Amino acid sequence: MIKGKKSVGVDIGSNAIKIIGLRKKKKIRIEFMKLTDLYMSRNVNRPEDLSDTLLVQVIRGLISEIKGGVRKVKTSVSGPNALVHSMELPNLSENEILSAIRWKLGSIILFNIDDVEIDFHVLNTNNNSNMQTVLVGIVPANKMKKHLDILNRAHLEPEIVEIDTLAIYNCFITLQDLHPDKTVALVNIGAECTTLIVIHPDHDPFFKSIAIGGNTLTRDIERTLHISFIDAEQQKIEMNYQLSHNTDNTNDYKEIGCKGPLLSMVAKLAEEVKKADIYYQILYGEEGLQRIYLTGGGAKLKNLDYLLADAVKVPVALWNPLKSEKLECGQEIENIDEMGLQFATSLGLALRDEL
Ligand SMILES: Nc1ncnc2c1ncn2[C@@H]1O[C@H](COP(=O)(O)OP(=O)(O)OP(=O)(O)O)[C@@H](O)[C@H]1O
Ligand SMILES: [Mg+2]
Repeated sequence: MIKGKKSVGVDIGSNAIKIIGLRKKKKIRIEFMKLTDLYMSRNVNRPEDLSDTLLVQVIRGLISEIKGGVRKVKTSVSGPNALVHSMELPNLSENEILSAIRWKLGSIILFNIDDVEIDFHVLNTNNNSNMQTVLVGIVPANKMKKHLDILNRAHLEPEIVEIDTLAIYNCFITLQDLHPDKTVALVNIGAECTTLIVIHPDHDPFFKSIAIGGNTLTRDIERTLHISFIDAEQQKIEMNYQLSHNTDNTNDYKEIGCKGPLLSMVAKLAEEVKKADIYYQILYGEEGLQRIYLTGGGAKLKNLDYLLADAVKVPVALWNPLKSEKLECGQEIENIDEMGLQFATSLGLALRDEL
């Protein structure tokens, strides 16, 4: 971020569009923030009906509410095919790195290397060994083309397009102080995808994209209760399953229909976190996870933090990036507790040059 200049992050998620504008003064100031949930705003009733044209309309609507308008933005692509890898490479110049990455990726990824777009960040450089650690983001070229087309139709000009996993990581390490010697996990639960990042201040992060999110749960509730997607979405938001509360005796079919899918989602997430925890311990010889930070719209499910903590046996805290002391805001943000959880990606994009 350049001092005084506006930096705008746009996150076109599967369920919600988020836009945030920052300006760097003494602190980092939030100039504006906008969010539209495509389902709760009734723009769409089921994922099959979501079109690029609708996304363009919603983005244009949000931009039109911003004083002074917006043209240049930092944005991201997401999804199971957008991958992040960390690699060890010799210390090369910027131009040479890309060729070296392409060559190395040839043996790692399944798609044709010419059909992917690549982005990279140098994490650290070791002059003694003459090696550097590079984080590499890979996106299928057709996915990138579709994304650029939506931005173009919304009259937005991307300054940067990166993978949302990297934006979430950037948001966390920019705003959250890391405790020396402690390993933590950041879990961002979106609608289609969950990003899991294991972080320790002395080591490279570990990234994993998991194909589970808020929509997985909505679809399971839809199937179990034989209701429409949008009604299942509503049920999900209202549900309040409590660990201590003995729902096995309930006669409420809605409660029974929501409980099974919820517990299955918690079990799958817990398994992924435990696997990543063990992998990281073996790789770096550190102690296990000390804390899990939970964020993303999916983290708004009532009591999910308690259920996950009980399943993994590690303390879980909700992580709201908007509440960081490194940020300030001109006016009070309404619903900051609710909305903040959905802003890690857009905020990480707008903060991008802090990395
Ligand atoms: N109050 C709530 N209770 C439970 N779930 C909620 C609530 N509000 C939003 N969600 C869920 O959060 C998800 C959207 O979160 P988020 O905005 O982080 O996802 P996204 O960025 O659109 O998706 P993705 O990153 O997977 O493309 C949806 O599945 C939605 O149902
Ligand atoms: Mg998202």
